[in-house]
Amino acid sequence: MITLAHLSDLHATDPSDAPFASLLNKRFFGWLSWRLRRSRRYRREVAEALIADLKGQTADHVALTGDLTNISLPDEFEVGAKILDAIGPPADVTLVPGNHDAYVATRFDAGWKLWADYLASDPAEVPEGAAVEPLHREAFPEPLPTVRVRGQVAIVGVCTAVATLPFMASGRVGRVQLERLREVLESLRERGLCRVVLVHHPVVDAHVSPRRRCFDSKALRAVIAGAGADLVLHGHNHRSEFHRLSTVDGEIPVVGVRSGSYAGPNEKKTAQYHLYEIEPSSGERRFDVTLRVREWSPHSREFEEHDGPRALP
Ligand SMILES: [Fe+2]
Repeated sequence: MITLAHLSDLHATDPSDAPFASLLNKRFFGWLSWRLRRSRRYRREVAEALIADLKGQTADHVALTGDLTNISLPDEFEVGAKILDAIGPPADVTLVPGNHDAYVATRFDAGWKLWADYLASDPAEVPEGAAVEPLHREAFPEPLPTVRVRGQVAIVGVCTAVATLPFMASGRVGRVQLERLREVLESLRERGLCRVVLVHHPVVDAHVSPRRRCFDSKALRAVIAGAGADLVLHGHNHRSEFHRLSTVDGEIPVVGVRSGSYAGPNEKKTAQYHLYEIEPSSGERRFDVTLRVREWSPHSREFEEHDGPRALP
């Protein structure tokens, strides 16, 4: 059995002291929103409590579906690197970036390079001669999606983070990445591995407005449906979401996790993270997946078990 932790949308890098010149673009609106509202809701101390709680669990690997930052400032990438280091070493933590990590086009050297070891595939999983997605050429030195194999679980990282216009929080997978995702999912299935797809934006558009959507989510759903997968995990909506997707491997769970740092007035968004226990199935399904949820308690100021274990889907 493998235990996989899933956390997302920490937004734990404070951009308050951003240099004026760095705000002369879309960042200004994000900075203003942070100063007016978000800074009181997304709390670094809650993210730190989550990381401390995670250390007390028995997770074999941690999946992080993006939005470590708020407006993708170079300073935020440096703080983000420290947060990643606190979560664990790159071999034990897989990251896919979110739209806030690509708030504006940022030079690779000043941005994702600082997280590169957490974003990378296992070297053995990078196919020779595979194309690099043109949309992500600036950010990724290797083909997407990324692939890491831990025991019987293959973690497939899909990048949807692309810089967008002001007031947009959309994403895009892109044609090249979609095509390679199909090949990767099919080949991992042949290897008998449990395929866990990580993506920042929701794959099912049930609770996401058009301006916050992944533009090619329909194509992404079609690839997953045709090539199969065992579990899809996402963030972005800052809410708990449970969907099912019909695939060649039957109905699979698609689960969204809340922000890992929210401590604002909406109790339905109070910070949580997920723990998945994954083991080969003795029944018809390929793998059994059990979910446990841990939630921030403003009273104890710690994360606590929320409800009991739940079998998916
Ligand atoms: Fe997001």
